[in-house]
Amino acid sequence: MTEMITAAAAGTWQLGDLTVNRLGFGAMRLMMKADGSPSDRDQAIAVLRRAVELGVNHIDTAAFYVSSTRSANELINTAFGGRYPDDLVITTKVGPGLNPLTMRPAEYGPEYLRSQVEENIRQLGRDHMDVVNLRIGDGLDRGTGSLAERFGVLAELRDKGLIRHLGISNVTASHLAEAQAIAPVVCVQNQYGLTVRRDDDELLKLCGEHGVAFVPFFAIASGTENKQVNAIAAERGVTASQVRLAWTLHQGQHVLAIPGTGNPVHLEENVAAAGLRLSDDELARLDSIQ
Ligand SMILES: NC(=O)c1ccc[n+]([C@@H]2O[C@H](COP(=O)([O-])OP(=O)(O)OC[C@H]3O[C@@H](n4cnc5c(N)ncnc54)[C@H](OP(=O)(O)O)[C@@H]3O)[C@@H](O)[C@H]2O)c1
Repeated sequence: MTEMITAAAAGTWQLGDLTVNRLGFGAMRLMMKADGSPSDRDQAIAVLRRAVELGVNHIDTAAFYVSSTRSANELINTAFGGRYPDDLVITTKVGPGLNPLTMRPAEYGPEYLRSQVEENIRQLGRDHMDVVNLRIGDGLDRGTGSLAERFGVLAELRDKGLIRHLGISNVTASHLAEAQAIAPVVCVQNQYGLTVRRDDDELLKLCGEHGVAFVPFFAIASGTENKQVNAIAAERGVTASQVRLAWTLHQGQHVLAIPGTGNPVHLEENVAAAGLRLSDDELARLDSIQ
């Protein structure tokens, strides 16, 4: 009998005192289908529960992950509320809040950060957040300017026990230095993948040197069709998405994956990618794509 591959297959990383399997889950795709219509509620809840069954113990979310009738935090609460697994680490992001008129994330000032953190805690039915990322910048453009005032607000909430650990998102190396001077940073969450934002190679390396997790988003979604990725996928009998995820996990022990999906088959494939070891030759072929 072949052994089932679980999210533990890529090993673990410490987010402060919290241990997570490096292959995690992003909740952003749970609320709606690709055409923007609301997802099937039962399927979204089943995907979350299956993820945990498969060993996922790091879920990334946000209070602004909503569709017209679904909310990622509400789905997570329904899937596990009242009996969250002891080892489950939930990471959220604040900075952008949900504009009630447009139902789109919008940048709010530092005075809103506390209520955003409390909103996440309330929606998830917990009494603190494990990890909170300060997300800066507009859309996918990296943030500019100082994050000190906003990060300082979160550092106070950490001191008060509302937040266990802090991260930053959509940032540069100078933001990391600025934040670290205020409070410990356990993770950096930026857009990054095999064929996108490779200018963050340096930041990824820097995070490793500081023991900070680098957590890319859009590791799958950023990728367009690529001949080399497809060729390796065909040779290994896996999918192109699995090759992209495996490549991500090969970038360093401190690199965590949070693939998002509302599709149970994709979930199984993404978890299986934790066990996909790429050879030096395959990695060199993938790196030659840039
Ligand atoms: N900090 C930030 O600013 C920020 C921004 C964006 C996202 N995030 C976080 O990062 C997480 C990851 O981003 P993401 O979910 O957009 O991107 P992703 O995981 O790179 O890709 C998700 C997209 O790929 C599809 N997909 C997933 N697994 C697949 C598979 N095995 N085969 C084929 N298609 C697959 C999904 O559709 P299906 O549902 O059909 O599988 C979805 O369209 C998010 O869930 C969110 O938690 C953070």
